[in-house]
Amino acid sequence: MLNFNKKKYHVVKRALPRPMASFLVDYFFLKHQVVAKFFRDGFITRDRLEWGSWADPQNQSTYSCYGDFISETLLLRLHPLIEKHSGHKLIPTYSYMRIYKKGDVLETHIDRAECEVSATLNLGGGKWPVFFKDKDGDKKAFSISLSAGDLAIYKGCELQHWREALEEEYCIQVFLHYTNEANQHLRFDTREMPGLPSAYKQSGGWFKYSQLNMDILRGKDKDKDKDK
Ligand SMILES: [Fe+2]
Repeated sequence: MLNFNKKKYHVVKRALPRPMASFLVDYFFLKHQVVAKFFRDGFITRDRLEWGSWADPQNQSTYSCYGDFISETLLLRLHPLIEKHSGHKLIPTYSYMRIYKKGDVLETHIDRAECEVSATLNLGGGKWPVFFKDKDGDKKAFSISLSAGDLAIYKGCELQHWREALEEEYCIQVFLHYTNEANQHLRFDTREMPGLPSAYKQSGGWFKYSQLNMDILRGKDKDKDKDK
């Protein structure tokens, strides 16, 4: 779609029906509360990133989660819609979710290659404007406000983007990332399948993770031997 190539963004109103967006707000708030309790109680350790974390360098006190099953399902289900509106043949890479709270900002950045075409989906809370500025072309910044269920598709590697301090109590955004089909090696962000946590990325995450687990298991075996 020529228009997307030139403008580098496109807004799809009501990409998700409002009741579904509202349902997902409840889901992510519940997950956020349960994971906070898990961490407080030591039921799971804070390095179990598949549950999400408060350790995202962009917002260290904000809950975020890579590859939640629901956001990964949205990544796949909205893939045809995003191809249609961008006019690009795309490969899904990964999804991400953040529950922003009052006062949060999003620092100015451009995305990595896995996010060549990205989408931000507002599930609920504030209409929090996202600002864009083309890093190469027209240097004038502009902003887009999204209501619950609205989706903004943008060229994440070409448009600088940021958000100023959130005025409302919260805003839940799901980010859906795709790359052009030439980048086959980046399919599912180098994970074997969607839904797997970032530890499964081929960049060594899974290897380190499995090695750690093996060491723990070996440690347990040694302890068992001692008991005999
Ligand atoms: Fe981004």
